Amino acid sequence: MTDTVALERLRVTASTCTLCPLAGGRTQVVFGVGNPTADLLFVGEGPGREEDLAGEPFVGRSGKLLDRLMAEEIGLTRAECYIANVVKCRPPNNRDPAPREIESCRPYLEQQIALIAPAVIVTLGNFATKLLLESSQGIRELRGQTFERGAATLVPTYHPAYVLRAGGEAMAEMRADLVRAKRLITAARRTQAERAPQAERAPQAGHP
Ligand code: URA
Repeated sequence: MTDTVALERLRVTASTCTLCPLAGGRTQVVFGVGNPTADLLFVGEGPGREEDLAGEPFVGRSGKLLDRLMAEEIGLTRAECYIANVVKCRPPNNRDPAPREIESCRPYLEQQIALIAPAVIVTLGNFATKLLLESSQGIRELRGQTFERGAATLVPTYHPAYVLRAGGEAMAEMRADLVRAKRLITAARRTQAERAPQAERAPQAGHP
């Protein structure tokens, strides 16, 4: 089974999930969207009202900003990367996801990361950053740095909803974080390209 097929199976499994109370209030599970073999994975917090109705992450005002910054600073569309959230169902009244809800949903996110195998993960805001770095530090302390996270490099940045409110300096810092992500993607692609011809030349097992 290819990872793309496994990811689709995971999406189907998640679509009927009842592991936490958020299942009771959702219109639909918002699993994630994009290229299942993307080099870049964005991880947000959880769906809002518009995402719950559309079944797709980041379709509201925050999403419009994310799309714009990803195009301007990385040169990618949402179809070329992958976008997921910490929790896949909408918390009521746009409240923060509760620890139990985050833990229930965590295996879906971890499996998405394992199957997509991105070179770079950009975490958007406190919830995704703290979860994936297992850190109690906030995004203000963590952004501006990069972290090894399994086979990927993690770039923490602000949540676009915060940047919409804060503007100015926060916007400039988020742009700088995305440029950092772009450089890491370019470096990872170069390494992959250098390794590929070697792999083709390598002798096949059992055929000396
Ligand atoms: N905010 C998020 O964190 N995720 C979404 O999908 C939408 C808004």
